[in-house]
Amino acid sequence: MSRPYRVAILGATGAVGQELLELLDSRNFPLADLKLLASARSAGQSLRFKGENLTVEAVDDNSFNGIDIVLASAGGSTSKAIAPKAVEAGAVVIDNSSAFRMNPEVPLVVPEVNPDAASEHKGIIANPNCTTILMAVAVYPLHKVKKIKRIIAATYQSASGAGAKAMAEVQAQTSAILEGKQPVAEIFPYPLAFNLFPHNTPLNEMGYCEEEMKMVNETRKIFGTQSIRVTATCVRVPVLRAHSEAINLEFDEPFDKNEAREILSTAPGVKLVDDWSANYFPMPIDATGRDEVLVGRIRQDISHPAGLELWLCGDQIRKGAALNAVQIAELLVEKNIVKPKLALALT
Ligand code: A2P
Repeated sequence: MSRPYRVAILGATGAVGQELLELLDSRNFPLADLKLLASARSAGQSLRFKGENLTVEAVDDNSFNGIDIVLASAGGSTSKAIAPKAVEAGAVVIDNSSAFRMNPEVPLVVPEVNPDAASEHKGIIANPNCTTILMAVAVYPLHKVKKIKRIIAATYQSASGAGAKAMAEVQAQTSAILEGKQPVAEIFPYPLAFNLFPHNTPLNEMGYCEEEMKMVNETRKIFGTQSIRVTATCVRVPVLRAHSEAINLEFDEPFDKNEAREILSTAPGVKLVDDWSANYFPMPIDATGRDEVLVGRIRQDISHPAGLELWLCGDQIRKGAALNAVQIAELLVEKNIVKPKLALALT
Protein backbone atom coordinates (compact mmCIF):
# COMPACT_ATOMS: atom_id res chain seq x y z
CA MET A 1 0.00 0.00 0.00
CA SER A 2 2.28 2.76 -1.16
CA ARG A 3 0.33 4.83 -3.67
CA PRO A 4 -1.07 8.14 -2.50
CA TYR A 5 -4.80 8.52 -2.13
CA ARG A 6 -6.69 11.74 -1.58
CA VAL A 7 -9.17 11.05 1.20
CA ALA A 8 -11.96 13.14 2.73
CA ILE A 9 -13.66 12.49 6.06
CA LEU A 10 -17.24 13.76 6.08
CA GLY A 11 -18.28 14.19 9.73
CA ALA A 12 -14.68 14.62 10.92
CA THR A 13 -15.71 16.33 14.16
CA GLY A 14 -17.98 13.47 15.28
CA ALA A 15 -17.17 10.44 17.43
CA VAL A 16 -16.61 8.19 14.41
CA GLY A 17 -14.82 10.96 12.50
CA GLN A 18 -12.29 11.34 15.29
CA GLU A 19 -11.63 7.59 15.29
CA LEU A 20 -11.24 7.61 11.49
CA LEU A 21 -8.47 10.21 11.89
CA GLU A 22 -6.71 8.06 14.48
CA LEU A 23 -6.99 4.90 12.36
CA LEU A 24 -5.76 6.49 9.12
CA ASP A 25 -2.68 7.55 11.07
CA SER A 26 -2.02 4.40 13.13
CA ARG A 27 -2.67 2.02 10.19
CA ASN A 28 -0.49 4.13 7.90
CA PHE A 29 -3.10 4.46 5.18
CA PRO A 30 -1.35 5.65 1.98
CA LEU A 31 -2.54 9.25 2.00
CA ALA A 32 -1.61 12.01 -0.42
CA ASP A 33 -3.78 14.37 1.57
CA LEU A 34 -6.67 14.38 3.95
CA LYS A 35 -9.62 16.77 3.84
CA LEU A 36 -11.76 17.23 6.94
CA LEU A 37 -15.41 18.07 6.30
CA ALA A 38 -18.30 18.75 8.67
CA SER A 39 -21.19 21.17 8.94
CA ALA A 40 -20.80 24.96 8.75
CA ARG A 41 -20.95 24.92 12.58
CA SER A 42 -17.46 23.41 12.70
CA ALA A 43 -15.80 25.28 9.81
CA GLY A 44 -12.44 26.71 10.85
CA GLN A 45 -12.01 24.32 13.79
CA SER A 46 -8.65 22.56 13.73
CA LEU A 47 -8.01 18.89 14.40
CA ARG A 48 -4.65 17.19 14.99
CA PHE A 49 -3.42 14.64 12.45
CA LYS A 50 0.11 13.22 12.32
CA GLY A 51 1.37 16.09 14.50
CA GLU A 52 -0.20 18.79 12.33
CA ASN A 53 -3.29 20.95 12.66
CA LEU A 54 -5.81 20.38 9.86
CA THR A 55 -8.66 22.85 9.38
CA VAL A 56 -12.22 21.56 9.17
CA GLU A 57 -14.15 22.83 6.15
CA ALA A 58 -17.91 23.13 5.71
CA VAL A 59 -18.97 20.60 3.07
CA ASP A 60 -20.19 22.08 -0.21
CA ASP A 61 -20.67 21.04 -3.83
CA ASN A 62 -16.96 21.50 -4.62
CA SER A 63 -15.60 19.60 -1.61
CA PHE A 64 -14.94 16.39 -3.54
CA ASN A 65 -13.01 17.61 -6.58
CA GLY A 66 -9.94 15.37 -6.95
CA ILE A 67 -10.88 13.17 -3.95
CA ASP A 68 -10.47 9.39 -4.38
CA ILE A 69 -12.17 8.05 -1.25
CA VAL A 70 -14.73 9.63 1.08
CA LEU A 71 -15.22 8.18 4.54
CA ALA A 72 -18.67 9.48 5.49
CA SER A 73 -20.12 9.47 8.99
CA ALA A 74 -22.41 12.45 9.22
CA GLY A 75 -25.84 10.82 9.54
CA GLY A 76 -28.33 9.42 7.04
CA SER A 77 -29.88 12.63 5.74
CA THR A 78 -26.47 14.24 5.15
CA SER A 79 -25.26 11.13 3.33
CA LYS A 80 -28.38 10.97 1.17
CA ALA A 81 -27.86 14.59 0.12
CA ILE A 82 -24.09 14.57 -0.23
CA ALA A 83 -22.87 11.08 -1.21
CA PRO A 84 -24.30 11.29 -4.77
CA LYS A 85 -22.41 14.57 -5.29
CA ALA A 86 -19.16 12.95 -4.17
CA VAL A 87 -19.75 10.04 -6.55
CA GLU A 88 -20.49 12.48 -9.37
CA ALA A 89 -17.14 14.14 -8.65
CA GLY A 90 -15.45 10.74 -9.13
CA ALA A 91 -14.94 9.62 -5.53
CA VAL A 92 -15.88 6.30 -3.95
CA VAL A 93 -17.91 6.84 -0.78
CA ILE A 94 -17.71 4.46 2.17
CA ASP A 95 -20.83 5.45 4.03
CA ASN A 96 -21.38 4.72 7.70
CA SER A 97 -25.04 5.77 7.74
CA SER A 98 -28.06 3.55 7.06
CA ALA A 99 -29.03 5.62 3.98
CA PHE A 100 -27.86 3.13 1.33
CA ARG A 101 -27.34 -0.15 3.18
CA MET A 102 -30.32 -2.03 1.79
CA ASN A 103 -30.03 -0.57 -1.73
CA PRO A 104 -29.40 -3.60 -3.99
CA GLU A 105 -26.89 -1.53 -6.01
CA VAL A 106 -24.79 -0.85 -2.90
CA PRO A 107 -22.47 -3.49 -1.40
CA LEU A 108 -22.72 -3.89 2.38
CA VAL A 109 -19.31 -5.03 3.51
CA VAL A 110 -17.68 -6.59 6.56
CA PRO A 111 -14.15 -7.36 5.31
CA GLU A 112 -13.87 -10.54 7.43
CA VAL A 113 -17.09 -11.87 5.87
CA ASN A 114 -17.75 -10.64 2.31
CA PRO A 115 -14.70 -8.70 1.06
CA ASP A 116 -15.41 -9.58 -2.57
CA ALA A 117 -18.66 -7.59 -2.52
CA ALA A 118 -16.61 -4.35 -2.41
CA SER A 119 -15.51 -4.73 -6.02
CA GLU A 120 -19.17 -4.58 -7.18
CA HIS A 121 -19.60 -0.99 -6.04
CA LYS A 122 -21.09 1.72 -8.25
CA GLY A 123 -19.62 4.58 -6.26
CA ILE A 124 -21.02 3.87 -2.79
CA ILE A 125 -20.12 1.08 -0.35
CA ALA A 126 -22.14 0.88 2.85
CA ASN A 127 -20.63 0.22 6.23
CA PRO A 128 -23.13 -1.95 8.14
CA ASN A 129 -24.88 -1.18 11.40
CA CYS A 130 -22.49 -1.46 14.37
CA THR A 131 -24.35 -4.21 16.23
CA THR A 132 -24.64 -6.21 13.02
CA ILE A 133 -20.92 -5.90 12.21
CA LEU A 134 -19.91 -7.18 15.66
CA MET A 135 -22.31 -10.14 15.43
CA ALA A 136 -21.27 -10.96 11.85
CA VAL A 137 -17.56 -11.11 12.74
CA ALA A 138 -18.31 -13.51 15.60
CA VAL A 139 -20.81 -15.88 13.99
CA TYR A 140 -19.77 -16.03 10.32
CA PRO A 141 -16.77 -18.33 11.01
CA LEU A 142 -19.23 -20.83 12.53
CA HIS A 143 -21.74 -20.38 9.68
CA LYS A 144 -18.97 -21.29 7.21
CA VAL A 145 -18.63 -24.70 8.90
CA LYS A 146 -22.30 -25.49 9.64
CA LYS A 147 -25.20 -23.42 8.37
CA ILE A 148 -26.98 -21.18 10.86
CA LYS A 149 -30.77 -21.53 10.63
CA ARG A 150 -31.79 -18.98 13.23
CA ILE A 151 -30.23 -16.26 15.39
CA ILE A 152 -31.82 -14.87 18.55
CA ALA A 153 -29.90 -11.83 19.78
CA ALA A 154 -30.20 -9.56 22.80
CA THR A 155 -28.01 -6.47 22.72
CA TYR A 156 -26.66 -4.13 25.37
CA GLN A 157 -25.71 -1.03 23.40
CA SER A 158 -23.48 1.86 24.38
CA ALA A 159 -24.26 5.55 24.09
CA SER A 160 -21.68 6.09 21.32
CA GLY A 161 -24.06 4.69 18.69
CA ALA A 162 -25.99 7.96 19.03
CA GLY A 163 -22.84 10.07 18.57
CA ALA A 164 -20.42 12.17 20.57
CA LYS A 165 -23.17 14.33 22.08
CA ALA A 166 -24.94 11.26 23.44
CA MET A 167 -21.74 10.10 25.14
CA ALA A 168 -21.32 13.52 26.73
CA GLU A 169 -24.96 13.43 27.83
CA VAL A 170 -24.52 10.14 29.73
CA GLN A 171 -21.42 11.51 31.46
CA ALA A 172 -23.25 14.70 32.43
CA GLN A 173 -26.26 12.68 33.66
CA THR A 174 -23.97 10.48 35.76
CA SER A 175 -22.34 13.51 37.40
CA ALA A 176 -25.74 15.15 37.97
CA ILE A 177 -27.18 12.08 39.68
CA LEU A 178 -24.07 11.65 41.85
CA GLU A 179 -24.45 15.29 42.90
CA GLY A 180 -28.12 14.72 43.79
CA LYS A 181 -29.38 16.74 40.78
CA GLN A 182 -31.95 15.83 38.11
CA PRO A 183 -30.37 14.25 34.99
CA VAL A 184 -31.13 16.12 31.74
CA ALA A 185 -32.02 14.05 28.63
CA GLU A 186 -31.86 15.91 25.32
CA ILE A 187 -30.23 13.52 22.83
CA PHE A 188 -31.81 10.38 24.29
CA PRO A 189 -35.53 10.34 25.15
CA TYR A 190 -34.84 9.25 28.76
CA PRO A 191 -31.92 9.44 31.17
CA LEU A 192 -29.50 6.61 30.36
CA ALA A 193 -27.21 7.02 33.40
CA PHE A 194 -28.07 4.38 36.05
CA ASN A 195 -30.82 3.21 33.68
CA LEU A 196 -31.44 1.29 30.45
CA PHE A 197 -34.22 1.27 27.89
CA PRO A 198 -35.22 -0.58 24.69
CA HIS A 199 -33.47 0.97 21.69
CA ASN A 200 -34.99 4.37 20.91
CA THR A 201 -35.35 4.03 17.12
CA PRO A 202 -38.86 4.07 15.56
CA LEU A 203 -41.01 0.94 15.88
CA ASN A 204 -42.69 -0.90 13.01
CA GLU A 205 -46.12 -2.51 12.96
CA MET A 206 -44.63 -5.86 14.08
CA GLY A 207 -43.20 -4.29 17.23
CA TYR A 208 -39.56 -4.22 16.08
CA CYS A 209 -37.48 -1.04 16.21
CA GLU A 210 -35.26 0.07 13.32
CA GLU A 211 -32.09 -1.11 15.06
CA GLU A 212 -33.56 -4.62 15.46
CA MET A 213 -34.64 -4.73 11.80
CA LYS A 214 -31.13 -3.67 10.75
CA MET A 215 -29.79 -6.77 12.46
CA VAL A 216 -32.35 -8.91 10.63
CA ASN A 217 -31.96 -7.46 7.13
CA GLU A 218 -28.29 -6.51 7.10
CA THR A 219 -27.13 -9.89 8.44
CA ARG A 220 -28.91 -11.61 5.55
CA LYS A 221 -27.43 -9.23 2.99
CA ILE A 222 -23.87 -9.54 4.35
CA PHE A 223 -24.08 -13.35 4.58
CA GLY A 224 -25.64 -13.47 1.11
CA THR A 225 -28.64 -15.54 2.16
CA GLN A 226 -32.27 -14.74 2.88
CA SER A 227 -32.79 -18.07 4.64
CA ILE A 228 -31.26 -17.16 8.01
CA ARG A 229 -34.01 -16.22 10.44
CA VAL A 230 -32.98 -13.45 12.83
CA THR A 231 -34.76 -11.86 15.77
CA ALA A 232 -33.24 -9.29 18.10
CA THR A 233 -34.07 -7.21 21.15
CA CYS A 234 -31.86 -4.13 21.28
CA VAL A 235 -31.34 -2.22 24.51
CA ARG A 236 -29.38 0.93 25.34
CA VAL A 237 -27.20 0.65 28.43
CA PRO A 238 -25.12 3.30 30.24
CA VAL A 239 -21.82 2.20 28.73
CA LEU A 240 -19.84 4.77 26.76
CA ARG A 241 -18.48 3.06 23.65
CA ALA A 242 -18.63 -0.76 23.57
CA HIS A 243 -21.64 -2.87 22.71
CA SER A 244 -22.36 -6.32 24.20
CA GLU A 245 -24.53 -9.02 22.68
CA ALA A 246 -26.00 -12.33 23.90
CA ILE A 247 -26.36 -14.54 20.84
CA ASN A 248 -28.31 -17.79 20.54
CA LEU A 249 -27.60 -19.74 17.36
CA GLU A 250 -29.57 -22.64 15.93
CA PHE A 251 -27.69 -24.69 13.34
CA ASP A 252 -28.98 -27.29 10.91
CA GLU A 253 -27.14 -29.93 13.00
CA PRO A 254 -25.49 -29.95 16.47
CA PHE A 255 -22.36 -27.79 16.81
CA ASP A 256 -19.99 -28.88 19.55
CA LYS A 257 -18.95 -26.00 21.81
CA ASN A 258 -15.29 -27.11 21.82
CA GLU A 259 -15.20 -27.09 18.02
CA ALA A 260 -16.81 -23.63 18.03
CA ARG A 261 -14.20 -22.42 20.53
CA GLU A 262 -11.41 -23.84 18.37
CA ILE A 263 -12.76 -22.12 15.24
CA LEU A 264 -13.23 -18.79 16.98
CA SER A 265 -9.74 -18.94 18.53
CA THR A 266 -8.25 -18.31 15.08
CA ALA A 267 -11.10 -16.43 13.38
CA PRO A 268 -10.13 -13.08 11.79
CA GLY A 269 -11.12 -10.09 13.90
CA VAL A 270 -12.07 -12.25 16.90
CA LYS A 271 -10.35 -12.56 20.26
CA LEU A 272 -11.46 -15.47 22.39
CA VAL A 273 -12.10 -14.46 26.03
CA ASP A 274 -13.50 -17.64 27.51
CA ASP A 275 -12.00 -18.39 30.92
CA TRP A 276 -14.49 -20.64 32.69
CA SER A 277 -12.31 -21.30 35.75
CA ALA A 278 -12.09 -17.58 36.53
CA ASN A 279 -15.64 -16.81 35.33
CA TYR A 280 -13.98 -14.21 33.07
CA PHE A 281 -15.70 -13.39 29.81
CA PRO A 282 -15.89 -10.37 27.46
CA MET A 283 -16.71 -7.04 29.08
CA PRO A 284 -17.20 -3.62 27.46
CA ILE A 285 -14.38 -2.23 29.57
CA ASP A 286 -11.98 -4.70 27.92
CA ALA A 287 -13.36 -4.21 24.40
CA THR A 288 -13.02 -0.40 24.56
CA GLY A 289 -10.30 0.87 22.22
CA ARG A 290 -9.61 -2.62 20.82
CA ASP A 291 -9.90 -3.74 17.21
CA GLU A 292 -11.12 -7.29 17.87
CA VAL A 293 -14.58 -8.50 18.80
CA LEU A 294 -14.19 -10.29 22.14
CA VAL A 295 -16.12 -13.59 22.17
CA GLY A 296 -16.68 -16.05 24.99
CA ARG A 297 -19.16 -17.87 27.25
CA ILE A 298 -19.56 -20.36 24.41
CA ARG A 299 -21.91 -23.12 25.55
CA GLN A 300 -24.41 -25.63 24.26
CA ASP A 301 -28.00 -24.41 24.47
CA ILE A 302 -29.67 -26.83 26.89
CA SER A 303 -33.06 -26.03 25.36
CA HIS A 304 -32.20 -27.13 21.81
CA PRO A 305 -30.08 -30.03 20.46
CA ALA A 306 -28.63 -27.90 17.62
CA GLY A 307 -28.33 -24.70 19.67
CA LEU A 308 -25.17 -22.88 20.69
CA GLU A 309 -24.79 -19.69 22.70
CA LEU A 310 -22.10 -17.05 22.92
CA TRP A 311 -21.51 -13.63 24.40
CA LEU A 312 -19.56 -10.85 22.70
CA CYS A 313 -18.33 -7.32 23.27
CA GLY A 314 -16.89 -4.95 20.68
CA ASP A 315 -15.91 -1.31 20.45
CA GLN A 316 -18.85 0.39 18.76
CA ILE A 317 -16.86 3.32 17.39
CA ARG A 318 -13.93 1.18 16.22
CA LYS A 319 -14.95 -2.18 14.66
CA GLY A 320 -18.62 -1.13 14.82
CA ALA A 321 -17.93 1.87 12.59
CA ALA A 322 -14.56 3.54 11.88
CA LEU A 323 -12.29 0.49 11.75
CA ASN A 324 -14.66 -1.43 9.46
CA ALA A 325 -14.78 1.61 7.14
CA VAL A 326 -10.99 1.95 7.06
CA GLN A 327 -10.65 -1.79 6.40
CA ILE A 328 -12.99 -1.36 3.43
CA ALA A 329 -10.81 1.53 2.20
CA GLU A 330 -7.76 -0.71 2.59
CA LEU A 331 -9.52 -3.38 0.49
CA LEU A 332 -10.10 -0.80 -2.24
CA VAL A 333 -6.39 -0.03 -2.24
CA GLU A 334 -5.05 -3.59 -1.92
CA LYS A 335 -7.31 -4.97 -4.66
CA ASN A 336 -6.76 -1.93 -6.86
CA ILE A 337 -10.51 -1.32 -6.91
CA VAL A 338 -9.90 2.43 -6.67
CA LYS A 339 -7.00 3.91 -8.56
CA PRO A 340 -5.59 7.15 -7.12
CA LYS A 341 -6.25 10.09 -9.43
CA LEU A 342 -2.96 11.68 -8.43
CA ALA A 343 -0.95 8.66 -9.69
CA LEU A 344 -3.01 8.54 -12.90
CA ALA A 345 -2.28 12.24 -13.50
CA LEU A 346 1.45 11.60 -13.15
CA THR A 347 1.58 8.73 -15.66
P1 A2P B 1 -20.67 19.14 13.20
O1 A2P B 1 -19.73 18.83 14.34
O2 A2P B 1 -20.22 20.33 12.41
O3 A2P B 1 -22.11 19.16 13.60
P2 A2P B 1 -21.77 12.42 15.79
O4 A2P B 1 -22.38 11.22 15.13
O5 A2P B 1 -20.67 12.08 16.74
O6 A2P B 1 -22.82 13.31 16.39
O7 A2P B 1 -21.08 13.27 14.60
C1 A2P B 1 -21.80 13.71 13.48
C2 A2P B 1 -20.83 14.33 12.48
O8 A2P B 1 -21.56 14.67 11.31
C3 A2P B 1 -20.19 15.63 12.96
O9 A2P B 1 -18.88 15.72 12.43
C4 A2P B 1 -21.11 16.68 12.35
O10 A2P B 1 -20.49 17.93 12.13
C5 A2P B 1 -21.39 16.04 11.01
N1 A2P B 1 -22.59 16.61 10.41
C6 A2P B 1 -23.84 16.64 10.91
N2 A2P B 1 -24.68 17.24 10.05
C7 A2P B 1 -23.96 17.63 8.98
C8 A2P B 1 -24.24 18.30 7.75
N3 A2P B 1 -25.45 18.70 7.46
N4 A2P B 1 -23.22 18.51 6.87
C9 A2P B 1 -21.98 18.09 7.16
N5 A2P B 1 -21.64 17.43 8.30
C10 A2P B 1 -22.61 17.23 9.20
